[in-house]
Amino acid sequence: MPRTGTRSPLALGFDAVRAHSLALAEPLSAEDQCVQSMPDASPIKWHLAHTTWFFETLVLTPFLPGYRPFDERFAFLFNSYYEALGPRHPRPARGLLTRPSADEVRAYRDAVDTAMRRLLDSADTDTLARAEPTITLGLHHEQQHQELMLTDVLHLLSQNPLRPAYRAEAPMPAVPSAMDWRTFDGGTVTIGHRGPGFAFDNEGPPHAVLLRPFRLADRPVSNGEYLEFVRAGGYRDPQWWLSDGWAQVQAQGWEAPLHWADGNTGAPTAFTLHGQVPLDLAAPATHLSLYEAAAYAAWAGARLPTEFEWETAAAAGLRATGQVWEWTRSAYDPYPGFKPFDGAAAEYNGKFMMGQVVLRGGSIATPPGHIRPTYRNFFPPSARWQFSGLRLAHDA
Ligand code: AVJ
Ligand code: FE
Repeated sequence: MPRTGTRSPLALGFDAVRAHSLALAEPLSAEDQCVQSMPDASPIKWHLAHTTWFFETLVLTPFLPGYRPFDERFAFLFNSYYEALGPRHPRPARGLLTRPSADEVRAYRDAVDTAMRRLLDSADTDTLARAEPTITLGLHHEQQHQELMLTDVLHLLSQNPLRPAYRAEAPMPAVPSAMDWRTFDGGTVTIGHRGPGFAFDNEGPPHAVLLRPFRLADRPVSNGEYLEFVRAGGYRDPQWWLSDGWAQVQAQGWEAPLHWADGNTGAPTAFTLHGQVPLDLAAPATHLSLYEAAAYAAWAGARLPTEFEWETAAAAGLRATGQVWEWTRSAYDPYPGFKPFDGAAAEYNGKFMMGQVVLRGGSIATPPGHIRPTYRNFFPPSARWQFSGLRLAHDA
């Protein structure tokens, strides 16, 4: 039965998420949207097209009768990593795609949005019920790419000697207060998403974890605190560093967090979404690798929390989260009993569960409503271009 009248929450959510991606691209020229500043980052145009390809391939093709892809060749260009969905353009060469143009990618988005609205507003109840989980996944997927658009555009603009701002009113981290410690008893806790609502497959199933008593800071480490580590020669002293981290310091010439300048002088600055600005000493330290986070924690006589400690504290009302992603000391492993999503989406998370580290909390670049206490972000330990910082922990 086609539904008439008011649109469903899913249809309204679809429009809102799709519009937000375009709003993020709004300050950017076609040139800005085409360039790939490093292999880890993607062009903004590619993000806009890939999130569209996701709906086209996983929702429209199976669920909208008679749907024909907008352009058969786009699957090769905009499939990110799904082996089950065929061959693809190499990731490091995404910035060479001057065609399709930014305008053609907009037309692609418009066509897929129109078809998605047809599905959302007039498919029969049974079809919609079967498509709903993948549509919801597609929206959370697009929100993940919205954060990547901001981290990637920051890295892109940081390569430009003109030090351009992304936009004047881009969100900046709030200023945290003095650091306090909270003590937790430990014991057997339940970790993982228990519903209701959406979660990625990597957040489940819920399972018991045994924690020792621990203490956790009530806010992330600030730039001012991290600057003390830099000025104390932290980047020249191997005693604070993991062996792999020290190798990175030497090989990459790291002297301070990514996007900092003049960290060893009297007037440090940072390149931000607002352009080059004086380093805000009260803002959370960000653009740290796991190695830098762990080195700072060692220097401060503390350690990083496990993701299980973090989640337990978050469930108990940890404050000052959502400013910066916080590196944990937990490997990005499957939880006991982990089951990947069905179908092609089985490749979404599970196949990346090796050699990466979990981050918790969310950042100023995370779209509102996207994060939860059970949310597991993950990156390789040397990644620095995300909004990634740390919070200190101790054994109690
Ligand atoms: C969770 C941010 C590591 O960047 O590949 C995007 C998000 N997953 N498309 C990533 C993601 C599929 C993912 N991270
Ligand atoms: Fe993706």
